[in-house]
Amino acid sequence: MMTAITDTFTEDHHRCDRLLAAAEASAGGSDWSAIGAAAGALVTAMDRHFALEEDVVFPALAQVFFVAENPIEIMCNEHAQMRQLLSEIGEAVDIRDKNALLGILETLHFLVQQHNYKEEGIIYPMADGALPERAADVAAMIADV
Ligand SMILES: [Fe+2]
Ligand SMILES: [Fe+2]
Repeated sequence: MMTAITDTFTEDHHRCDRLLAAAEASAGGSDWSAIGAAAGALVTAMDRHFALEEDVVFPALAQVFFVAENPIEIMCNEHAQMRQLLSEIGEAVDIRDKNALLGILETLHFLVQQHNYKEEGIIYPMADGALPERAADVAAMIADV
């Protein structure tokens, strides 16, 4: 059983989790250049992760496995919700609003956990099963940071 997509995308979730934890830790302080850098690294990593899912994994999966259409739509809606929070992070950093930033990061943390649980338990294994020939190529894309 191929697990290349599950393994690499789960690993990328963990990388994003570490960046989120670092952003939360720095937002607890008052060094705004460090906060800006940590927030920027988080936004970049999550944007890239969402883009690889939406542009590569989900379309490839939907093409061969029609049952995946509904769960994929739910994942994309959740990406849209989280993208909204990512843009609010930038705004909070710009105006140096620490309370707003901590609140946004907390909400993001909760949404990311729920979202990743569904992808790791359902979507990625489905993709590995449905795309045995493409799984290694898709996995290589995320490893290629
Ligand atoms: Fe996702
Ligand atoms: Fe993901």
